[in-house]
Amino acid sequence: MTGREGDVILEVKSLSKSFRRNSRQAVRAVENVSFSIYRGEFFGIVGESGCGKSTLGRLIPRLIEPSGGQVFFNGEEVTAASRKRLSRLRPLMQMIFQNPFASFDPKMTLGSSLREAALFHGLPRKAAQARILELLGLINLSADVLSRLPKEISGGQLQRLAIVRALIPSPPFIIADEPVSALDVSVQAQLLNLLYDLKERLDLTVIFISHDIQVVEYLCDRTAVMYMGSMVEIAGAEELFDRPLHPYTRALISAAPRLETGGGKRELLGGDPPSPFDDIPGCRFSPRCPRRGEACLKARPVLAEGGDGHSVACHFPLP
Ligand SMILES: Nc1ncnc2c1ncn2[C@@H]1O[C@H](COP(=O)(O)OP(=O)(O)OP(=O)(O)O)[C@@H](O)[C@H]1O
Ligand SMILES: [Mg+2]
Repeated sequence: MTGREGDVILEVKSLSKSFRRNSRQAVRAVENVSFSIYRGEFFGIVGESGCGKSTLGRLIPRLIEPSGGQVFFNGEEVTAASRKRLSRLRPLMQMIFQNPFASFDPKMTLGSSLREAALFHGLPRKAAQARILELLGLINLSADVLSRLPKEISGGQLQRLAIVRALIPSPPFIIADEPVSALDVSVQAQLLNLLYDLKERLDLTVIFISHDIQVVEYLCDRTAVMYMGSMVEIAGAEELFDRPLHPYTRALISAAPRLETGGGKRELLGGDPPSPFDDIPGCRFSPRCPRRGEACLKARPVLAEGGDGHSVACHFPLP
């Protein structure tokens, strides 16, 4: 872990988001999530599809409004900020999304798109061009790309330009939501290394959202595991991998293909993933949990720290 206690850049307190489907049904996409991120960290969030990772990512800069809870950025409450204040805070919390083709206007040249973004952030025209060229240099991309349309370059190059666009207002904090999942496998590692390199060079703090626990172990200082809207475990990435305390984390790790062991014995989860509409009393993982006991059916476990920076929400954590 690179951050220090007391040097918190982001604090999330009891954050929740429900999406109402009709008068009787609602999805609790994010439920009572609390965590802090230290300045300079590369913080991973992992979990299966639909567990609420993107919703959580979008709640932080209030791209969607929470149903409850608070977000503090550099000590300031984002969730209480006025519209005007929010427009000043948002450029400091930039997002990078999964599909770069969806985040650029297909009819505009990349140069026009980037200049538009720079002008939006208040840079004068000349400074905007200089900033774009400076950032292109930083990611080793030739200025030739500026005259092209999104469809005329590769997904990997376009995602690099999405990173450039995110960096225009010099944000200290980036939320990258599955930034390589839509890309060709051959360029994924390159892009991840670029992101890590930029984090080091520009002193960024990064939330990195992924469904791939191995990528997270490789890149992140600390990692949070989400299951059905809740954080079930947070630990240093290596510690999490070597000594998972939550049965769900262990299942995620053992389901990941391990190159060095040639597969090994996999522990697959029993039961079906519950519907997001099910209102399970007690632990939401209990229907699939091999360690389920009486308490798990009655009370929702809360995330509690064991004293060594390793937190788990489980009535019967692994030894
Ligand atoms: N705008 C919305 N309206 C209704 N339901 C939504 C909305 N956005 C997300 N959900 C629901 O909230 C839950 C969490 O979705 P979310 O996209 O945050 O998951 P995720 O972990 O990012 O999944 P993935 O790995 O597939 O990207 C899902 O059940 C999803 O269907
Ligand atoms: Mg998502």
